[in-house]
Amino acid sequence: MNENRPGSMSAFWMPFTNNRDFKANPRLLVSAEGMYYKDVDGNSVLDGTAGLWCVPCGHAQPRITAAVSEMVGQLDFAPTFQMGHPAAFDLAEQLMDYTGHKFGHVFYTNSGSEAVDTALKMALAYHRARGEGGRTRLIGRERGYHGVGFGGLSVGGIGNNRKSFGPLLPGVDHLPHTHNLAKNAYSRGEPDHGVELADELERLVTLHDASTIAAVIVEPVAGSTGVLVPPKGYLKRLRELCDKHGILLIFDEVITGFGRLATPFASDYFGVEPDMMTTAKGLTNGVVPMGAVFSKAHIHDAFMDAPAGIELFHGYTYSGHPLACAAAIATLEVFREQGVLENAKEMQAYFEDALHSLRGLPHVIDLRSIGLVAGIELAPIAGKPGARAFQAFKQAFADGILIRVTGDIIALSPPLVLNKQHIDELFGKLANVLKNLD
Ligand SMILES: Cc1ncc(COP(=O)(O)O)c(C=O)c1O
Repeated sequence: MNENRPGSMSAFWMPFTNNRDFKANPRLLVSAEGMYYKDVDGNSVLDGTAGLWCVPCGHAQPRITAAVSEMVGQLDFAPTFQMGHPAAFDLAEQLMDYTGHKFGHVFYTNSGSEAVDTALKMALAYHRARGEGGRTRLIGRERGYHGVGFGGLSVGGIGNNRKSFGPLLPGVDHLPHTHNLAKNAYSRGEPDHGVELADELERLVTLHDASTIAAVIVEPVAGSTGVLVPPKGYLKRLRELCDKHGILLIFDEVITGFGRLATPFASDYFGVEPDMMTTAKGLTNGVVPMGAVFSKAHIHDAFMDAPAGIELFHGYTYSGHPLACAAAIATLEVFREQGVLENAKEMQAYFEDALHSLRGLPHVIDLRSIGLVAGIELAPIAGKPGARAFQAFKQAFADGILIRVTGDIIALSPPLVLNKQHIDELFGKLANVLKNLD
């Protein structure tokens, strides 16, 4: 009997998991360092997904671990409602520096889902504060993932995530997704076709009238649905249309923020500035849960003209938790001092070439990547959507690599501190898995 194994697995109702399948054949992680997990049997597992897209600096990063340990002994908790603590303010200033002062303010949450719901609420309240309270509509996109709160689910566009939960928020509409295998398969970086899909926003404006629309929210690169890279010019076009119609543009950078595209944010990569940006995950290197909404100064300032009093009736008990702030400050230090973005930049061409070496393997129908994120789309088994990729996921874990699957798409998003040997190991083992799939 392995002492690390839990006595029973019954009580923990696991999130986004096939509970019955997992508990019959569990995959248990017990430690992590650098690019590797260790499983309960002592096997090393190369982390091809940065946990859940959230560990850019690698596991057990000593600087971050030390900062959190120090803070927990000094200030275990402090409220941020009508109170504060220095680290929350210091972090906010450092985050503004990290964005190159393109944003003026940051609001803390505990997760990506909360960041999204916060940004949507801010968008509504912003228009109301400016006397345009009729702007209540929110526009998301098909196949979008914005977490699991009712706001994020409503603007999200993944059917399985939505179908069990009733009518969701009223007054929401969706742009079409941008996935087009017939025209864009095997693209490297931004695909050539599909900029015109942004013009669908004009159609929604005609349908609803701009005066009813508060915000458009999209992931700059859609991650959870299976790595959909925006067509060339698409995000710029969305920005232009939002400006034309007085609609706020929100980028959900929960996955793309903090270096996934080898730039601080995807907005830097694409040269398109949103009015608000939602982040989480890499913000604290995944060590302590934290999310953050970045807003342009004018959004925040619109609230500051109100009569004296609380300007925004919104927040979470753990907004700006001292441990999360300590982890985030240390994460920014690691990014700065250890050249995390520079390493990602250096590795991206090698990563892309390794990905495209999988072309021609059985069942592979598309390979796409940008920065250090990659999607490998497999042809589904007839009548069993998702089964083929799930089989790949299980075999990959048994072979010592952690990958992520969504439907029949494999998504890779390793820590940004990887080297060429890690890339070789990841794609070498994955190639073997693909060669032997049903
Ligand atoms: C783009 C995006 N938004 C929101 C979320 C939700 O974040 P969380 O799981 O921290 O609530 C995710 C999670 O993967 C995400 O990818």
